[in-house]
Amino acid sequence: MNLSILNKKKQQGEKITCLTAYDASFARLLERAGVDMLMVGDSLGMVIQGQASTLPVKLEHMLYHCQNVRRGCSAEMFVIVDMPFMSYSQAPQALENAAYLVQEGQANMVKLEGGGQVAQCIEAIVAHGIPVCAHLGLTPQSVNKIGGYRVQGRGERNAQTIFEDALKLQDCGANMLVLECVPQQLGKQISEKLEIPVIGIGAGAYCDGQVLVSYDMLGINQMHLPRFVKDFSKEADGWLEAVQKFVAEVKSGQFPASEHCYE
Ligand code: KIV
Repeated sequence: MNLSILNKKKQQGEKITCLTAYDASFARLLERAGVDMLMVGDSLGMVIQGQASTLPVKLEHMLYHCQNVRRGCSAEMFVIVDMPFMSYSQAPQALENAAYLVQEGQANMVKLEGGGQVAQCIEAIVAHGIPVCAHLGLTPQSVNKIGGYRVQGRGERNAQTIFEDALKLQDCGANMLVLECVPQQLGKQISEKLEIPVIGIGAGAYCDGQVLVSYDMLGINQMHLPRFVKDFSKEADGWLEAVQKFVAEVKSGQFPASEHCYE
């Protein structure tokens, strides 16, 4: 998998599948099940480390898990790694840390959260040949500012801000966008407008692809889960089959269904 194949999938209307992975065994299983991309998300702070948020996650943690994931999957697998909180507060620092994750962790792409305030970081990273995935809507690293994990982009003004940020980050060179927890209509508008693939998580059925936290969609995470999560393990015989079901349902448009989407 590579960026030009992913872009072609968007152009041809073929849905892209992505799940989080934090270790070699999961990476192997997800690749075997046919997932297009693996995301070493900083959600590992919550599902692996048991933290209350993603804020305590450090660059070293991301590197460690990225290396583990890379060892478990083939060189062809497209691996996205999250840049943790405060690892991209300035463009030179962002570039240095992104290069570290790509060089030492062998990630194909780095992901960072935020709107216009991360534009310079994105420009600096992509200028050096490192693909960037932007992340808008619910940005968990800003949970204290947002005041909780809630739907973003409701109301015309809020929706317009996210829409404009998406265009701006694409103009700055972002190669992909993760859109989290926004009304389905906004997910549709942004996916139709942008040329880069838009991967939704609680952003409705019209995004170019879907990502979920693997521990959530396999029913491993026993914490409260948002409505956009479907537990695929309930209808499957084992984890491999559950992930295969996720891939099939995303590709066919069966997931997310209306009960997983926000108005
Ligand atoms: O940290 C994470 O796992 C993410 C997601 C988009 C699933 O950012």
